[in-house]
Amino acid sequence: MTDGRRAALAEDAVARIVRPEIRALSAYAVAKAEGCVKLDAMENPYPLPEPVKARLSEALRRVAINRYPDAGGEGAKRALRSALGIPEESGLLLGNGSDELIQIIVSVVAKPGAVVLAPEPSFVMYRMDALYASTRFVGVHLRPDFSLDRDAFLEAIERESPAVIFLAYPNNPTGNLFADGDVEAILGASRGLVVIDEAYYAFADASFLARVPEFPNLLVLRTLSKVGMAGIRLGYAVAAPVWIAELNKVRQPYNVNALTQAAVEVLLLDTDWISEQAAAIRVERTRLESALARLPDVRVFPTQTNFVLVRVNDADRIFEGLKARRILIKNLHGWHPLLANCLRITVGKPGENDLLLSALAELEAEPAR
Ligand SMILES: Cc1ncc(COP(=O)(O)O)c(C=O)c1O
Repeated sequence: MTDGRRAALAEDAVARIVRPEIRALSAYAVAKAEGCVKLDAMENPYPLPEPVKARLSEALRRVAINRYPDAGGEGAKRALRSALGIPEESGLLLGNGSDELIQIIVSVVAKPGAVVLAPEPSFVMYRMDALYASTRFVGVHLRPDFSLDRDAFLEAIERESPAVIFLAYPNNPTGNLFADGDVEAILGASRGLVVIDEAYYAFADASFLARVPEFPNLLVLRTLSKVGMAGIRLGYAVAAPVWIAELNKVRQPYNVNALTQAAVEVLLLDTDWISEQAAAIRVERTRLESALARLPDVRVFPTQTNFVLVRVNDADRIFEGLKARRILIKNLHGWHPLLANCLRITVGKPGENDLLLSALAELEAEPAR
């Protein structure tokens, strides 16, 4: 058989067999970042402090790579519990990033007819994971100031009886924290699971983690990705033990690898470095917000995350202009009507933010030339 014939047969089989909704997707694209100022992925820009790095390399040397990892990640769980104030009586599950946990949660509730509900715009994986699980996704528009439309949300709960509701708290990509009263009303009205996704907890002034024992239908989702450890891929879910027991059945047996487990145990031995870096990012965020607000034609939205959402006159032009200057941010124009001409800028190191600010000032001045 010729190569061409083999390729044609493969294409034919794919067209017949793969679900049409999957065929219609594109794979998750990550921009090439070599040599660029990287302000597009909500990473912490600071490396590990030297003493933490030294502890880490010592611990990784001892990992038995030839063996499967501890299936339950018990050492890593102990480290998380003692470092991060996870309520004693609550169950805990580890994931390969919180992305994996979102997928597990959706697959556990994806009965025929089940609904996944979330505000929009919000984190895109809630919608994507519903699609992967052939489950209906219902989005409820936020208000133009990105606050929750409580009445519309409660009406959607009443109408759809969702199996699971996702609330990113603070929200990505808008950056704001929903009002506590709105979240409590949703928790009270929902007969399904309510996931409060606190990926950005370290940059916010509020959290539901300590309140997990108060609500039988609350699951708090977190990740180490935004606090300096995106590379190890570790997310965690905290909820009543009965919820965690069901989610645990769907988890792949060795979803968190041995290097990550060993790393978590030493990285969380002391959490001062995490709080110090988060505090530095918050300080820099305030400076960046004020400097952005001083630029002509830039509207800055309030944020409790490590990124700032702005609206400009022509997001595509600014985005391309920054890219040409090797500065990567996220262009949200076209994602959702409420995000028209919006850009999401991750808070970088002071020098990186300065480069961004001067490039933006240059680009804003351009049309007048
Ligand atoms: C709200 C929210 N949840 C979850 C995630 C996924 O994080 P990770 O899979 O890195 O833990 C992100 C990443 O951007 C996010 O913004």
